[in-house]
Amino acid sequence: MVAAVCGSFAPRIPKDGRGNNPVTKFMHVQGAPPDSLPPGTPLLQGQFLVESFLNAGGFGITYLARNSLERRVVLKECYPTTMCYRSQSLVRARSCSQQTEFDVVVRLFGEEARRLAKLDHPNIVGVHDVFEDNGTAYMALDYVEGLDLLDVIETQPGRLGPPEIRTMTRKLLEAIAHVHGLNMLHRDISPDNVLLDRNNEPILIDFGAARDTARRASRVLSALQVVKDGYSPQEFYLAGSAQNPAGDLYSLAATLHHVLTGEPPLYSHVRLAALAEQKPDPYVPLAGRVAGYDLHFLSAIDTALSVFAKNRLQSAEEWIECIDTKARQRALSAKVSNDPEVTARIRKLVNDTNVAVKVEQERAAREVAEQRRRDEIERQAREEARREMRAQALREAEEIQREAEEAKQERLAAEAAERAQLEAEIAAQQAADEMALQEAADPPARRAQSRVETRGEELERSKAHTAKQKIEMHERPGWITRVWRRLLRRDTTKQRRQLEGSGA
Ligand SMILES: Nc1ncnc2c1ncn2[C@@H]1O[C@H](COP(=O)(O)OP(=O)(O)OP(=O)(O)O)[C@@H](O)[C@H]1O
Ligand SMILES: [Mg+2]
Repeated sequence: MVAAVCGSFAPRIPKDGRGNNPVTKFMHVQGAPPDSLPPGTPLLQGQFLVESFLNAGGFGITYLARNSLERRVVLKECYPTTMCYRSQSLVRARSCSQQTEFDVVVRLFGEEARRLAKLDHPNIVGVHDVFEDNGTAYMALDYVEGLDLLDVIETQPGRLGPPEIRTMTRKLLEAIAHVHGLNMLHRDISPDNVLLDRNNEPILIDFGAARDTARRASRVLSALQVVKDGYSPQEFYLAGSAQNPAGDLYSLAATLHHVLTGEPPLYSHVRLAALAEQKPDPYVPLAGRVAGYDLHFLSAIDTALSVFAKNRLQSAEEWIECIDTKARQRALSAKVSNDPEVTARIRKLVNDTNVAVKVEQERAAREVAEQRRRDEIERQAREEARREMRAQALREAEEIQREAEEAKQERLAAEAAERAQLEAEIAAQQAADEMALQEAADPPARRAQSRVETRGEELERSKAHTAKQKIEMHERPGWITRVWRRLLRRDTTKQRRQLEGSGA
């Protein structure tokens, strides 16, 4: 198990494969070191009760405990083994000369705990109490029910697939961004310092920054290593070197390397040595050789694992942008909006576009109005033409009707004239017949008298007929009247001539 974690390079503190010195991990150990507090030990006047030992590192001992509400908590005791010992429950400096230094370390432990208590993130273990007792300091942490990542990799290899690992990475990056946002560093990110609860929610524990502060403050502690082979970047090995967020990102990348490949990357100080000898970096990049992950995801880990801090991803946010398409787009637009020159160009582009759009809209509106006007003119012309055609049709219909009526009237007039002619002929015939009879019986003077009387009667009848027609004419339209008058004039003239002719 340990060999798989460490590969061919032995870590500095390799005993349990997690860099912890006394091999006393909760899951694996049989017993607790003799100087740890025994179960049942009360702390802070009984507000906490030690339940069991969990682990011991060079700087402290971790216990499972209960608080006054019977809730399970984890207690971390400031116990730098190289400078203190326990007498009964009391922790004392190993020598009087170390007491001052020990007091400083205890004070720094408390200060660091109070700083950690300010971290408020769902993926960072909560520090909810700091107190001094037994001559040392303690911090009380929320208890997380679950396994650490190292145990998960080793005992449940199928539990985390690419989707879970991607989600876990994202959450850890957000947690780290939170830490860095408060100007703090974790300094000890590794698989054994990430707990996974039953929902695979990753929780970052065991901030190494407190240990580093103590180490810097104490000559005795300065000899202690605060690096974890395979997970610490090369600069952590150099005393007094500048440390920055990129160091934590290196450790996270190394942790993910372990999760993906089953082992941490080649130790950073070994790679540094190779480069110092002008040899190529012996690190084999992950990009393209791990199935189930896109190039962005794997390349981000490779970049974060660069030997030199300046070549790494510089912030957790930058890493998130690399692996999250949406975050990448957001970052790009944020970058764009922060650049005054780009902003000015975009503003000009937007203005130009707005002006062009407005001009185009106005032109289109004008075209629409013009088209409407043309349509209206055409409509009116069509309407006028239709009216004209209708009037024309009406006129023609009236003309036809008038002509038909005139034809009818002429026909009637002709018939009337014919009838009159016939009657006149009949009358003339009758008169001739009568004359013939009278000639046979009466003298010629009587016949002449009789003929004049007969003609007079005929004339009277004809006048009566004409008068009747005149009356009818008055009831007819003007044009009929005109025709009738013409006809009557013709008739009357004809009859008069006939009469005059016969009278003569
Ligand atoms: N909040 C917690 N909830 C549950 N278990 C925890 C919690 N904190 C720590 N543990 C368990 O205790 C173990 C040791 O804790 P931690 O990593 O904080 O100490 P360490 O590595 O021994 O510390 P140090 O390096 O500070 O001496 C962890 O691996 C984990 O199994
Ligand atoms: Mg730890």
